[in-house]
Parts: sequence; C-alpha cells; structure tokens
Amino acid sequence: MAIERTLAIIKPDAVGRGLAGDIIKRIEGAGLRVRAMRLMRLGRAQAEAFYEVHKARPFYGSLCEYMSSGPVVVIALEADGAIARWRELMGATDPVKAAPGTIRKEFGMNVEQNATHGSDAPETAAREVAFFFSSLDIVA
Ligand code: CMP
Repeated sequence: MAIERTLAIIKPDAVGRGLAGDIIKRIEGAGLRVRAMRLMRLGRAQAEAFYEVHKARPFYGSLCEYMSSGPVVVIALEADGAIARWRELMGATDPVKAAPGTIRKEFGMNVEQNATHGSDAPETAAREVAFFFSSLDIVA
C-alpha cells in the first residue's frame, strides 16, 4: 500500500452529541495519523461548494443545510492506504447498513446525519484536504 492522505469530517450530529473525542480516539487507535485538525462551522456556501459533486441529488439542499447547522471537526489523516482504511472504520453511508462496530453503525442517526465523512478516492481526497488545509497546516 502507499502512504495516502484523506479527509475526515466529524459532522454536526456527532460534534453536537459530544462524540468528537471518541471518534478521534478510534481514528488514532486504528493507526491513522492526524496531520491537521480544526473545529469550525461551515457557512452554507462552503457546504454547497464542498458537496458540489452531489448538486443534482435530491438530498443536496438538505445535506448542505445540515452540514452548516453546527460545528464540525475537519481532519487530514495520513497512513498506508488511509482512504480505504478510514472508509472501513466509518462503515456504510447508511448507518442501518453499516457493519457492526463501525462508527456510523454506532453513532450515525440516519443516512444524512451519519456522524462522519470520508473521501472516496485519491482525486477526491486531494481536493477535499486542500479545500480545508493549506500545505502549511499539515504537520509532517
Ligand atoms: P458523505 O459521506 O458525507 O457523502 C455525502 C453525504 O450525503 C452522505 O455522507 C450523507 O450525509 C448524505 N447522503 C447520502 N445519501 C443520502 C440520502 N439518500 N439522503 C440524504 N442524505 C444522504
């Protein structure tokens, strides 16, 4: 496997319920290294830009409303095969379908308020990490 970077977001539903520490503990416990991290609140326009790829989907408006409804924690992760490993730790998008023990199974409320986000491929990971962090923010 190659060393990769990926973007993790702890979403408003999870931050709001005080689950950020627990989720970061799982990330670190799985050997994914935190290289940059920020607590922030997305503006509506920022949420729309971040999820632009989903613009045509019926849930886009609701998703952007939700993602700007409260604070999130954005994290740049690095590890061998980080993209797939973070997605495995999160579980399927829909918490009902997520495997037992995964973050979304344990903490997700529904398919929209599903606790965390993760980049799905190397190209999207590069775009998403750069969306939130400059090279100066990334700790080597
Ligand atoms: P995420 O991994 O951040 O990528 C896109 C997000 O859209 C997804 O997690 C969910 O929060 C949301 N989403 C995906 N599918 C649906 C759906 N069918 N209905 C509502 N929201 C969805």
